[in-house]
Amino acid sequence: MSTAPFDFTAKNVLVFGGTSGINLGIAKGFSAAGARVGVASRSQDKVDAAVAQLGNDLGPAMGFSLDVRDAPAVQQAVHDFVAERGQIDVLVSGAAGNFLAPAAGLSPNGFKTVIDIDLLGTFNVMRAAYESLVKPGASVINISAPQAWIAMAFQVHACAAKAGIDQVTRTLALEWGPEGVRVNSIAPGPIGGTEGMERLAPTKEAAEHSQKAVPLGRWGEIEEIANMAMFLSSDLAGYVSGAVIPVDGASSAGRSIGG
Ligand code: NAP
Ligand code: COA
Repeated sequence: MSTAPFDFTAKNVLVFGGTSGINLGIAKGFSAAGARVGVASRSQDKVDAAVAQLGNDLGPAMGFSLDVRDAPAVQQAVHDFVAERGQIDVLVSGAAGNFLAPAAGLSPNGFKTVIDIDLLGTFNVMRAAYESLVKPGASVINISAPQAWIAMAFQVHACAAKAGIDQVTRTLALEWGPEGVRVNSIAPGPIGGTEGMERLAPTKEAAEHSQKAVPLGRWGEIEEIANMAMFLSSDLAGYVSGAVIPVDGASSAGRSIGG
């Protein structure tokens, strides 16, 4: 899978949850396209490892160890990124947690934990970045999932959290649109080589079943999500805002016969 030839030279891109999997892939895509990237997540080791893989001719990436549930910590990271880089051009909110658990066995704190990371975290990130972001041409990408509109058993926490994220996307697209900021969600389908699919399809049989259920017959690749993030943040998508874009091989489009 080749990376699309986008040009984000000297644009400043800050990716929350950007130290592994899909979000790291997004950070890598923007970095390869010339952007000055920052990534943030809880684990200092993961932040360091991600920063070591990022960076380009304009210099190294910046890394921040923080929890998106901690609004002051998110504000501090935004402050430090902007102090160094001047402004934010593209903001990505992708930090998330998920696990399979029947609702009847899920504790209130288990439900709250996922809501707090995914939904409150996305609000914290957008709220903190607003003043450094707001300008014509700026782009926000929130990472959703098909669980936002297709209920999936044993994921009540993630279904509720991702549905909430998409309403945050739509609402702030309305509020920030007049200032020139576009806000969109990407809803990846099952993506290979990720923690998410390790958790949701942990056995070989489950993985094969999941792959067969995708009309295109395979899991997606991390670079395919990065390409959509770059397209949505480019001038080519200048009239796209308030949208939730599935990148899922048609797996959320409906049911095949017998499916
Ligand atoms: P992942 O590798 O586990 O990515 C999650 C990232 O978020 C990590 O960098 C993690 O780093 C960070 N994170 C988690 N909790 C955090 C917190 N409280 N504060 C700050 N950072 C936090 O998983 P992934 O599978 O690539 O998923 C990435 C995104 O894509 C998620 O939003 C997920 O819901 C979405 N998605 C994935 C799939 C899929 O097939 N994998 C499908 C649909 C949607 P730390 O552990 O260091 O905090
Ligand atoms: N099933 C049921 N409940 C679970 C659970 C599971 N597999 N994992 C955690 N919980 C519950 C805990 O029991 C706890 O509730 P309690 O206090 O009532 O016992 C609550 O969730 C919080 O757990 P904790 O481990 O303290 O949360 P954390 O903030 O340290 O970690 C998670 C957050 C649980 C989401 C963790 O899995 C994580 O960090 N995930 C990030 C990576 C990820 O999920 N990637 C895929 C992205 S789609």
